[in-house]
Amino acid sequence: MRIAIRQIHPVFVGEVSDVDITRPLSATEVAGIEAGMNEHAVLVFHEQPLTDEQQMAFTVNFGRLEDARGGNITKPEERRLEVGMNDVSNLGKDNRPLERDSRQRLFNLGNMLWHSDSSFRAIPARWSLLSARVVNPVGGNTEYADMRAAYDTLDDATKKLIEDLVCEHSLMYSRGSLGMLDYSEEERAMFKPVRQRLVRTHPATGRKSLYLSSHAGGIVGWPVPEARAFLRDLNEIATQREFVYSHRWRVGDLVMWDNRQTMHRARPFPEHEARDVRRTTLMGDGPTTAQVAAA
Ligand SMILES: [Fe+2]
Repeated sequence: MRIAIRQIHPVFVGEVSDVDITRPLSATEVAGIEAGMNEHAVLVFHEQPLTDEQQMAFTVNFGRLEDARGGNITKPEERRLEVGMNDVSNLGKDNRPLERDSRQRLFNLGNMLWHSDSSFRAIPARWSLLSARVVNPVGGNTEYADMRAAYDTLDDATKKLIEDLVCEHSLMYSRGSLGMLDYSEEERAMFKPVRQRLVRTHPATGRKSLYLSSHAGGIVGWPVPEARAFLRDLNEIATQREFVYSHRWRVGDLVMWDNRQTMHRARPFPEHEARDVRRTTLMGDGPTTAQVAAA
């Protein structure tokens, strides 16, 4: 069966119907979703009550799962979900909301800053898929911004200036901007900055996009304050309201997005309420740039 996609925002985001993603998909359905992602960058599915196994099975129709290690301060023994699932909830292993001063919770608050998933990895994520299991009656939206539209809006001089720029990304930069500056030696090694191009070209559509993220804390060859001020300006342009879609979650929603073409951020919700959203992540095809500067 052919899937149906209706664009629900002026510049991006498709709402998908006529498909049950809890079951194995046909080749036509997989191709339809691939094409929809290339065009809309974000796809929204409703009424898909996925188990973790079903979510992982759906995800691997489109590539390989990312190895989630090194992306958080949560220790293996503190994990609530099995390997392959990223826990984006506010819950501890006992399924209760984390304490207000929990370091794990404070680290996860970094998701409220505009970012692209895993831009702090040498091979950054391709797509992310977020499934809503328990949602908040008020608050807790996820916002998405179209980085292709952001790129298109830049003037020619800026496009020329940024064409070959390379940024340094680390989880310590995004968390540092919220005042989290204390990390163990082991965490410092794990969060060592990686390099990413500032402009990316989509392999299927050829469209260029700004590859921004709160994890970006420097531009290679630029003084740090100048780089951060410049990136801040670009972020402001990139996240203007015309380019932003705000998703109001319902239980059973699955939203998938292309991290190469979009940024996203979580919005606040009452911290004492349980929120259970679970992510699967598709690994990217390769690094966006070399990791070591030429001598
Ligand atoms: Fe994220």
